[in-house]
Amino acid sequence: MEYRVTSLTVEQTHELGKQLSECLLGGDVVALTGDLGAGKTAFAQGIGKGLGVVGPMTSPTFTLIHEYECLIKGTKIRLIHMDLYRLRHPEEAEVIGIEDAFVEDAICLIEWPEIAEDYLPDDCLNVEIHGSGEMPREIIFHAKDSSWEQRLEFLFK
Ligand SMILES: Nc1ncnc2c1ncn2[C@@H]1O[C@H](COP(=O)(O)OP(=O)(O)OP(=O)(O)O)[C@@H](O)[C@H]1O
Ligand SMILES: [Mg+2]
Repeated sequence: MEYRVTSLTVEQTHELGKQLSECLLGGDVVALTGDLGAGKTAFAQGIGKGLGVVGPMTSPTFTLIHEYECLIKGTKIRLIHMDLYRLRHPEEAEVIGIEDAFVEDAICLIEWPEIAEDYLPDDCLNVEIHGSGEMPREIIFHAKDSSWEQRLEFLFK
């Protein structure tokens, strides 16, 4: 099942991330795909805002992983934001400890997840962003299991 939403501005993309954050749970992994400048970081920032991240969420392009504290239903957990653009081999994902981020006390957002495809959990949500520059974006949410189907139906019905 998939949902397609159009975003005309960066603010709308932030808002969509914030909307998604309302149904996130500990252990969730969100894979963000799309070209350079598509809006993956913008979407992740919207999620962070929705989860009460304090301070700016900057792109982890050079550092690969940024970690924040966030709140899910009043409980503090970690929000882990990765950008795998600079990885050249899938095994490097293991080296940077990708699987340590797939735990119940964390939510993990991954930009450029393709190289680590084999490590991603089956129930991860893929958010695909089409478009760049000043063009409108088409944002496609792909639900691969019934939990995500129910959550997305609730959000976008
Ligand atoms: N509708 C839109 N949604 C998101 N970003 C938009 C939109 N319209 C314009 N923009 C601009 O596009 C850029 C998106 O940048 P962002 O860093 O979020 O992309 P990215 O997908 O994370 O790129 P990278 O692959 O380099 O990490 C920002 O400069 C933003 O202002
Ligand atoms: Mg980015």
